[in-house]
Order: sequence, then structure tokens, then C-alpha cells
Amino acid sequence: MKDFLTLENLSKKEILYLINLGLRIKKYPRLYYNKLKNKTMLLMFEKPSLRTRISFEVAMNQMGGNAIYYDLLGSPLNKGKETIEDTAKVISRYCDLLTARVYDHEELKKLASNSDIPVINALSNSNHPCQAIGDLITIKEKFKKLKGLTLAYYGDGDGNVTHSLMHACSKVGINIYIFCPKQFMPKDKFIKNSKKFAKKHNSKVVIENNPRKIKADIMYTDTWMSYHINQKEKSKRVKIFKKYQVNKNILGNALFMHCLPAQRNYEVSGEVMDGKKSIIFDQAENRLHSAKAIILWCLK
Ligand code: CP
Ligand code: NVA
Repeated sequence: MKDFLTLENLSKKEILYLINLGLRIKKYPRLYYNKLKNKTMLLMFEKPSLRTRISFEVAMNQMGGNAIYYDLLGSPLNKGKETIEDTAKVISRYCDLLTARVYDHEELKKLASNSDIPVINALSNSNHPCQAIGDLITIKEKFKKLKGLTLAYYGDGDGNVTHSLMHACSKVGINIYIFCPKQFMPKDKFIKNSKKFAKKHNSKVVIENNPRKIKADIMYTDTWMSYHINQKEKSKRVKIFKKYQVNKNILGNALFMHCLPAQRNYEVSGEVMDGKKSIIFDQAENRLHSAKAIILWCLK
């Protein structure tokens, strides 16, 4: 049994295993229909979600198990009536898996170290590893390879999606360029780690502050207003991020990816979002197949 909190500690072999398993499950879903009989997952969420919540619930149901959604707003933990340690211990007595979406990544670590069951990170402020595995599945599906491709990311560098993409790309040999404002650079430890992984796997991690068009296979962006950002920050952030928008002037022949939810005409023009090069809904679909792969890997 294993936790799935970040891609930092996963080997290249483990990441490739998850990608290939996800693709196999997508092709032969019926082979996996009974794999989780009598297994229960608790989905404990502190932030909103469409894709992650629904894909994990459907993944459990389709593989013969159950999922329970637990909104942290209504929990004794949220009311300051119970500790995170006690919460984790109690959940471990009822369920086989805990999938949690929280603000602070440290809380996930506490959940994991106090649980006897695998804990899956459904997004924290600093990491979104489930998204990155789904993204690599989508990239492999479209290009039939990973190594040697180039992904250009524009926008908020200091985000969960960016951090996990940096881990993912650098470990599988995808060159990743991040174009982001100076004030919104990826956190130092993610830059340091992913550069180290890139060196080992013969790929590049490049971070620049001035957005420019490069010859990339994939262009990727994320919202400028992540769940944990206060709405009051919006106008200030829009001003800073404006020149990082992915639009037709920058896209060239690249495929367009976005983790979603997206705000058309902010981080991406409506034209690109809904255009022929956009693979966002295949990408969203692959969250389901990757969720199944992650669950099976955690329980192995
Ligand atoms: N991409 C993603 O994690 O979406 P949700 O916030 O809807 O789960
Ligand atoms: N960076 C975004 C990702 C949403 C899936 C957020 O944290 O809101």
C-alpha cells in the first residue's frame, strides 16, 4: 500500500507504469470492473471540484467499490472540535482509501502519517499529482511518445498544477518551459528538484519571465485565480498575467492543454480554448482513467 501525495518521490519507472496502466484501463475498462469489490474510498474535500471528485467517484463505482463524499465544511475538524490526527485514525477504521483535497500540503502529510490506509492528494495548494498523471496519459495518447517532446506553460508559475507538471515532465524526458511573472515563479524547491530530475533524464526545465513564442508540441495554461486565491486579488492579478495569455498568436502548431476549470479570454482566448488544437476534453476524460490507475497502484 502506498500514498500518492506528490510526484517528487516517484521514480520514472513508477510514473511510466501509471501512464501505461491508465491507457490499458481506458482500452479495456471491463477487465477492471471487479477489482475494488467491497472497497470504500472517502473523498474528503475542503475546496470545490468537478473533475477530481466525479472522476474518483466514478472510478470507484466502475471498479465495483464505493465512494463517500465528505465535505470538510461539515466536519468536527473544520469546527476545531477534532484534530487532524484523530480524524485520520478514525477514517482508517472505516475506509480502504482516503482521497483528500486541502489547502495546506502539510495537512495531507499529517493525514498520511496518521492513517493505516493509502492517502491520495486530490490537490493541495502546492501539488496536483493526479492532474499531472492524467496529463501525461493524454500526451502519450496524442504523440505516442513522451521523451523529447517540448511543453510550454504560460501564466501562474507558483501553482499546484505547474509544480506537479515540472516533476512529471522532468522525470519522463519532456522539456518544460515556464513563462511566468517574476512575482509568480515556481517555489524554489520545485525548481531545484525538477532541474535535478531533468539532468538525470536528459530533459530541460527552463523558466523565463518574458513570454515568447517557442516551437513547442504542447502549450499549457492554468487559471490565474486558483481556488485558494482571494477574489479581491483578481484585478491586480489580471493586470500582471495579461501578457501570458495563450492565444492564436502564440499557439503555432502546438496542441493546447488546460487542467480546467478555465476562464475564457483570461488565461486562454476563447478561440484557442474551443479551437481545433485544443485537447482539453480528452484531457479531462483521462482524469477518470488515471484515477483508476492511481487507486490500483496505491492498493498494490
Ligand atoms: N482539474 C481539476 O482538478 O479540476 P477540479 O477542480 O474540477 O477537480
Ligand atoms: N491551480 C488550480 C487548479 C484547479 C484544478 C487551483 O488550485 O485552483
